Amino acid sequence: MTSTECSDPRVTKSAAWWLRVMAVVYDPFLWFGEMAGMRRRRRALLAATRGRVLEIGAGTGLNVAHYPSDVDDLLLAEPEPGMRRKLARRVAALDRPARIIDAGAERLPVADSSVDTVVSTLVLCTVADPERVLREIARVLRPDGELLFIEHVRAGSRFLAACQDVLRRPWRGFAGGCVCNRPTLDLVRDCGFTVSADDAVWRGMPAIVHPLKIGRATKG
Ligand SMILES: C[S@@+](CC[C@H](N)C(=O)[O-])C[C@H]1O[C@@H](n2cnc3c(N)ncnc32)[C@H](O)[C@@H]1O
Repeated sequence: MTSTECSDPRVTKSAAWWLRVMAVVYDPFLWFGEMAGMRRRRRALLAATRGRVLEIGAGTGLNVAHYPSDVDDLLLAEPEPGMRRKLARRVAALDRPARIIDAGAERLPVADSSVDTVVSTLVLCTVADPERVLREIARVLRPDGELLFIEHVRAGSRFLAACQDVLRRPWRGFAGGCVCNRPTLDLVRDCGFTVSADDAVWRGMPAIVHPLKIGRATKG
């Protein structure tokens, strides 16, 4: 689907307008963070992708250049039209065989147990219903498949967690729905995944999104 309007009926007009702005400013806003280590982390994480790969919330396509050339099939799901346009341009510029799908991660147009690797970078913070998304990821993953992720999470430090709690609402409005204090890894475990993750710091970005978890999750 290549719709140019926001396909999610829950998104109000003003929110849809702001999401279009976000699509324009997203790459410049992340630039320092990418240069300060995030690009290297994306490359390292995605080197482990294999088989049929599905990326949720693919955004402007900052991961696209880092997929190994021998993955069997690359599906890039992105529900926001402005992001999807930039994603399509990046895929074309890189001449990368990939299919772009207009889909939120709550309902992926993909058969049960048909994906080897699901990729989520900075997406589980943004989805409105992370448990539902995690159930959907479990549905599409093959039994031996894995979820590879880079996610910013609720801080371990009490001071930073308190700052995240205070700034949650304004940040959410500014950052297109991102919940800076979400304990994402706990949610992944609570949804029945086995998780292995490393800690990192998202340098070059505001402190409330500094704490990162980078790793993989498998079903059961
Ligand atoms: C912070 S951006 C991350 C983009 C990209 N993954 C990256 O690493 O740069 C969050 C992305 O999640 C997308 N998104 C928002 N709600 C979503 C949903 N329900 N399902 C899937 N993606 C969603 C947004 O449109 C946006 O592209």
